[in-house]
Amino acid sequence: MKDQAHTLRRIFEGGASSSFPQVLSVTSGKGGVGKTSIVVNMAIILAQKGKKVLVLDADLGLANVDVMLGLMPKHNIQHVLDGQCALEDILLEGPEGIKIIPASSGIQELSDLTNEQQLCLVNSLDYFDQHIDYMIIDTGAGISRNVMYFNTAAQRILVVCTPEPTSITDAYALIKVLRKQYGIKRFDLIVNNASSKIEGDQVARQLTLVCERFLGDVALEILGSIPTDKTISECIKGQKAFVGVHPTGEASIRLERVVNRLEQTSRNSNSGNLQFFLKRMLLNQSKGSSHAGYSISRSY
Ligand SMILES: Nc1ncnc2c1ncn2[C@@H]1O[C@H](COP(=O)(O)OP(=O)(O)OP(=O)(O)O)[C@@H](O)[C@H]1O
Ligand SMILES: [Mg+2]
Repeated sequence: MKDQAHTLRRIFEGGASSSFPQVLSVTSGKGGVGKTSIVVNMAIILAQKGKKVLVLDADLGLANVDVMLGLMPKHNIQHVLDGQCALEDILLEGPEGIKIIPASSGIQELSDLTNEQQLCLVNSLDYFDQHIDYMIIDTGAGISRNVMYFNTAAQRILVVCTPEPTSITDAYALIKVLRKQYGIKRFDLIVNNASSKIEGDQVARQLTLVCERFLGDVALEILGSIPTDKTISECIKGQKAFVGVHPTGEASIRLERVVNRLEQTSRNSNSGNLQFFLKRMLLNQSKGSSHAGYSISRSY
């Protein structure tokens, strides 16, 4: 492990980040709402603004950050946890120098690590504390223990939903579980696949009202909406980021606004730094599986 810090320093040449890294999770109740696409393109926009960004693919069921960018990892985080590789051996580089920690479908739940593996993960990620500005975590959909593990450890939880009623209901169900079971009160919201800005605003308002009415003290920060845009699926098919292929397209412009809003509303507290994130991850794990059986309740 001692050589790892040296190699990582070389990978992240360009010096230390000036402030604590922000740890963001991008999550959703319903699957297929555009999380991975948002994570990848948001990371690129932040990198274009000069930020150092690390993307952690934490969707262990359907890991595909690398696939979306046409990258082909030989190894993934499981190899690090098993002691077969060092973190620098698995790090992928994406557009604009973003760094990606790839996962793989069907690997061990990160919420279920042995003590040795916890230590390995903490040691591996620890280095990044002073060398990145953002860590963006692509969680899976739903309320599995693994998804909660990352959401509860992140500083900001970016909930993605679309105007489909099932997506809105499931976003609410996710927020409800995070509020009632884990005490989280602040969330960020991105509405994806909106037919118009008006529809995006309506969905955001609807979810805000339901949260206010039934959860009382939950605050939703509306980061904005992204339109339905066929170039997004074309870019995904071509394994390219849409902000790279169509930088002046409506989807790119709107996502840039979302990123601006994210930066403007940045919460300057140490609780977002990576050290804190790692501590919370371990704490969550030691709390065990008491929430594993919680099922989505669509009732308010
Ligand atoms: N704004 C959009 N306009 C049009 N199509 C979109 C948009 N956003 C996403 N899509 C489509 O939705 C599909 C799912 O996107 P993505 O894989 O990013 O979702 P996800 O939430 O990560 O899914 P999963 O829950 O399976 O991980 C993409 O293949 C793409 O075709
Ligand atoms: Mg995904």
